[in-house]
Amino acid sequence: MNKKHFSAFISLALFLAASAPVFAAGGGALETADINIRDTAAIQRGAKLFVNYCLSCHSASYMRYNRLAEDLELDEDLVMQNLVFADVKIGETMDIAMEPEAAADWFGKTPPDLSLIARSRGADWLYTYLKTFYQDENGHWNNLVLPNAAMPHVMWQLQGIQKPIYATHDGHDVIDHLTLAKPGLQSPEEYGETVHDLVTFLEYLSEPAKLKRKNVGVWVLLFLTLFTLIAYLLKAEYWRDVH
Ligand code: HEC
Repeated sequence: MNKKHFSAFISLALFLAASAPVFAAGGGALETADINIRDTAAIQRGAKLFVNYCLSCHSASYMRYNRLAEDLELDEDLVMQNLVFADVKIGETMDIAMEPEAAADWFGKTPPDLSLIARSRGADWLYTYLKTFYQDENGHWNNLVLPNAAMPHVMWQLQGIQKPIYATHDGHDVIDHLTLAKPGLQSPEEYGETVHDLVTFLEYLSEPAKLKRKNVGVWVLLFLTLFTLIAYLLKAEYWRDVH
C-alpha cells in the first residue's frame, strides 16, 4: 500500500467509525444507557423484569433458560422457580404463551421477537424508548422515539403517567418535553435503574457470547504479554554467545 492509498484507507475507516452510531440512532435525542455487559447482577434483575413485563407479548426465541442459568451463574432450580411459568422445561427457549396472530389482532401489529433488538436498535434507543412513553389528550399511550407505537406502556405502574408539554416551532406544535403527571411506584431515578437493568439484559440477550468473548480476550492479552517476555528472554540468551 502506498502513502496515498494508505491515507485514503484511514479516512474511510475513520468515516465508518464515526458514522456507525448515527445509523444506529436514527435521529432524535437519545439518552445514554451506559451499559456494562459484565454486570451480572443487572442482567439477573433485567431477566426477571423481562419475564414479568415483556414475555407475555414478546418472545426471545434464541435464548434457552438453561443457557441463561449457566451464563448468569444461577442455579437451574432457582431459574425454574423465579423465571419460568407453567409447564416450560429448563431446556426450552423463551417463547410466549400468546399466539402471534392473536397479538396482531389485539395490537394491530405482532410484537417482534426481542432476541436481537439490542443489535438492531442499540442500547440508547431502547433505554430512551422505555422511558418516553406518555399519555396523549385522549388517554392513548404514545412514545417519543417510536411515534404511534402499537405497544402500551407496560411499566406505567412503576414509572407513573407522563404527559407531553408542547412548544411552538415554526408555527407547529411539537412536544418539548414530558412531565410526570401522576407519580408511579418508583421515583424517576429508580425507574431509570429499572430500565437500565432491562436494557442490560436485552444487550446480553442479543449476544450472549459477548460475556464469554470478553473473558477469552483477557487471557489472549495475558498470553501475548507473557509470550513476548519469553521471546525476549530467549533472544537475550541466544545473543549472549554471539557477542
Ligand atoms: C401487551 C403486549 C406487549 C408487552 C407486554 C410488551 N410489548 Fe413491546 N411491543 C408490543 C407491540 C405490539 C409492539 C410493536 C409496536 C409498533 O411497532 O408499533 C412492541 C414493540 C416493542 C419494541 C420496538 C421494536 C422495534 O424495533 O420497533 C421494543 C423495543 C419493545 N416492544 C420492548 C418491550 C419490552 C422491553 C417490554 C417489557 C418491558 C415489552 N416490549 C412489553 C407489545 C408489547
